[in-house]
Amino acid sequence: MSEVAKLELNGTVYELPVFTGSENEKAIDIKKLRAETGYITLDPGFKNTGSTSSAITFLDGEKGILRYRGYPIEQLAEKASFMEVAYLLIYGELPQAHELENFHNSITKHTLVHEDMKQFFEAYPAQAHPMGILASMVCSLSTFYPESQDPNRGYEAIDLTIHRLLAKLPTLAAMSYKNAMRHPAMYPKNELGYCENFLHMMFGMPTEEYTPDPVVVDALNKLLILHADHEQNCSASTVRIVGSSQANLYASIAAGVSALWGPLHGGANQAVIEMLTKIQEDGGDLQKWVDKAKDKNDAFRLMGFGHRVYKNFDPRAKIIKKAADDVLDKLGIDDPILDIAKQLEKVALEDEYFVQRGLYPNVDFYSGIIYRALGIPTEMFTVMFALGRLPGWIAQWKEMVENGEPIGRPRQVYTGANERDYVPMSDRK
Ligand code: CMC
Repeated sequence: MSEVAKLELNGTVYELPVFTGSENEKAIDIKKLRAETGYITLDPGFKNTGSTSSAITFLDGEKGILRYRGYPIEQLAEKASFMEVAYLLIYGELPQAHELENFHNSITKHTLVHEDMKQFFEAYPAQAHPMGILASMVCSLSTFYPESQDPNRGYEAIDLTIHRLLAKLPTLAAMSYKNAMRHPAMYPKNELGYCENFLHMMFGMPTEEYTPDPVVVDALNKLLILHADHEQNCSASTVRIVGSSQANLYASIAAGVSALWGPLHGGANQAVIEMLTKIQEDGGDLQKWVDKAKDKNDAFRLMGFGHRVYKNFDPRAKIIKKAADDVLDKLGIDDPILDIAKQLEKVALEDEYFVQRGLYPNVDFYSGIIYRALGIPTEMFTVMFALGRLPGWIAQWKEMVENGEPIGRPRQVYTGANERDYVPMSDRK
């Protein structure tokens, strides 16, 4: 017998079907609730609300499990390439060798951006935040491919947009960095792998040959994989909801970039390094900062701590912490910020406040330390997150379109003024 939930309202009992996911996750299906009862549910921040069912990413926050299409994140981070993971997320299965080759070849064909876009960069002030530039540039791509704005385009046209986005995001990201440095932009090199090509565009100069360190390439590959998807987070939900209005994929991804920018989401990686630097400059009194984070009259939070879903530990943070040690060791870098981060983690995890609330280091706590070691400037950290998250956003958008999901349009409970008559200006008190 299928499971049902019973809701009693004003003496009437309503039966609500229970939906069960493939990992035995349970949800009460309220699709007909308003039609049958006149009531809606209220859940600010969607803490208990499933906006969709999805076959892309599974995570269990209590057990610290994260899997893309069933594959554990630990195995993917250890063994896969970012391109393989992108394919897996977007198309549902790990690619065969020829499928991966075709995918990669197609992407490399689209790495250039239109020459006219260079002028956009020139118009930004040198101190412009690269996330602001990235969001605008991704949306601007739609203006170069007007056919992508047709909501009834076929699968082939959608695939072309997907490949263009994967190809051009690294180019645009590197161009925003070069613009900030007032250095000449580097054209992509199509014989390079995805990560190598990005590093070449970031750190190469027209005056001399640049060969990235394999340690740096491997670390970047791992970081991109770890960030590639995280089910219905703020930016993925944004992409799905914008896309549900049939806005084109470029516009939907640009909205995702903007959502990611906030310090409570992807912007935390920049905020963590800024916080650790401040703690160091302030003399390194960790207890003082932990106490500040606990003080409810102080808006300060320990950046890189806590997660909406992980209340035990974030499996990505575990992998990144180890990778940070490895990368710094291999590159022969001694970063005092890493020591402060480790000590802060220890102090916080022994503190009752953090233990009670299940506040553990999240993916962003150690990622900035690796980015620093790779030579990526702090303001570019969230752009790096966006590069990694792109296949996830695309997969989420594609699933939403293929499932024919309705336009996202939450309801509200109105708490404002009741009906009243317009007051002429002269009579207003
Ligand atoms: N420092 C101090 N207190 C915290 C922190 C923190 N970093 N995070 C949560 N709390 C407290 C919060 O004040 C609340 O306390 P109380 O129960 O006494 O009111 C309790 O823990 C629950 O917090 P919440 O804000 O209700 O939890 P949430 O699920 O709405 O927020 C979060 C999750 C990630 C926004 C939050 O933990 C936070 O602001 N963390 C710092 C920013 C950060 O590192 N963000 C990156 C998230 S991981 C990357 C990604 O995927 O986006």
